[in-house]
Amino acid sequence: MKEIRAGIIGLGDIAAGHINDMKRSGKIIPYALCDVNREALYRAGQKYGIPQERCYTDYKALLVRDDIDMVSICTPNITHYEIAMEAVSKGKAYALEKPAAMTLEEARKLKEATLAAGVANTVCFSYRYRPAVYKAKSIMESGMLGRIYHVYAQYIEGKEDNENIPLLWRYRKELAGSGSLGDLGSHILDMVCYLLEGGFEKVTGCSGILIPRRQKLDGSGMGEVTTEDYFHALAMLDEGISATFAFSKFAWGRRNAHRVEIYGSKGGMIYTLEKGVDSLKLCLGEEQNIAGLWTEVDLDRNVAGQMDCFGEILQGGSNATPATIEDGCYVQAVMEAMISADSSQCWKDVAEFTD
Ligand SMILES: NC(=O)c1ccc[n+]([C@@H]2O[C@H](COP(=O)([O-])OP(=O)(O)OC[C@H]3O[C@@H](n4cnc5c(N)ncnc54)[C@H](O)[C@@H]3O)[C@@H](O)[C@H]2O)c1
Repeated sequence: MKEIRAGIIGLGDIAAGHINDMKRSGKIIPYALCDVNREALYRAGQKYGIPQERCYTDYKALLVRDDIDMVSICTPNITHYEIAMEAVSKGKAYALEKPAAMTLEEARKLKEATLAAGVANTVCFSYRYRPAVYKAKSIMESGMLGRIYHVYAQYIEGKEDNENIPLLWRYRKELAGSGSLGDLGSHILDMVCYLLEGGFEKVTGCSGILIPRRQKLDGSGMGEVTTEDYFHALAMLDEGISATFAFSKFAWGRRNAHRVEIYGSKGGMIYTLEKGVDSLKLCLGEEQNIAGLWTEVDLDRNVAGQMDCFGEILQGGSNATPATIEDGCYVQAVMEAMISADSSQCWKDVAEFTD
């Protein structure tokens, strides 16, 4: 089987996750590196044993290499579009971090260019590959919950309720596009569409900034935070499913905490993740409903990770199902509808934002 050689662009927090996931997969080799920050580049080169001649400060120089099959794009959101477009123009497959782009317009152009070029791609909605989410997907496909009435979903985190965190790129709208919505919410919006195999009809939203000023990185005083710290939304999904969403970085004591509850005419299902541990509970049947009895579902912990699935596709396999730029673009449309609804304080039809 062909070994896939990857270039990793952007060597911050999430790049380590990509590289470890590639190594675990055994299908993709971290082969070349790129970061505009020379120190980060040097450190990663040393850590992963990548020789200097395969370490770049300019992603374009990395992308012209003939011996690279794919790139992982792990840079701040402002750069996603230009780097992914360059990868497409060079015929390289890409694994693009979420949110796919800064705006829906960028996401659409990237989708069109990717499809026209026929380049393999994935947008890194990485929680699709958790054991509990695999199991939840098969339960939804079985139809055992009956007709779905409600989804109550949240992704909350407490670490950023801290005034000492400086004005990083993620607090600046011109570099991040959005705050908790793109950062946390995009994962859950994708997960709900994925599990329900459906989309959004209309949305409304409410957001806020709780620490409005942070220390500038260059030490020149305080700067304005322009991305939201929390985003709460109501939604009507396809087939009349009524849903609520809560995304916040100000949930004291919570660590990367997901909760997706799905209720139907024959049962309920609750997926949770906290501190890296995922679980799934089910309540099925009339007796369990009356007694309020929930059963913890046994999970197969030996499931394929994100790079395992993408590597399989790049090697010509067909049964892996990673999120694609089409999914990334749809999530971008839902986010844009939510932002528009929030700023105009009304409901928005998501169809206005989709193709
Ligand atoms: N899937 C997930 O669960 C998850 C988790 C965290 C972050 N992310 C996403 O990953 C991306 C990066 O986030 P992070 O937390 O790792 O950021 P980070 O700030 O820790 O790292 C970004 C790195 O990119 C480098 N960089 C910036 N511009 C560059 C360019 N033009 N070329 C090459 N390198 C460049 C920076 O120097 C930095 O080292 C974001 O889009 C974020 O939303 C996803």
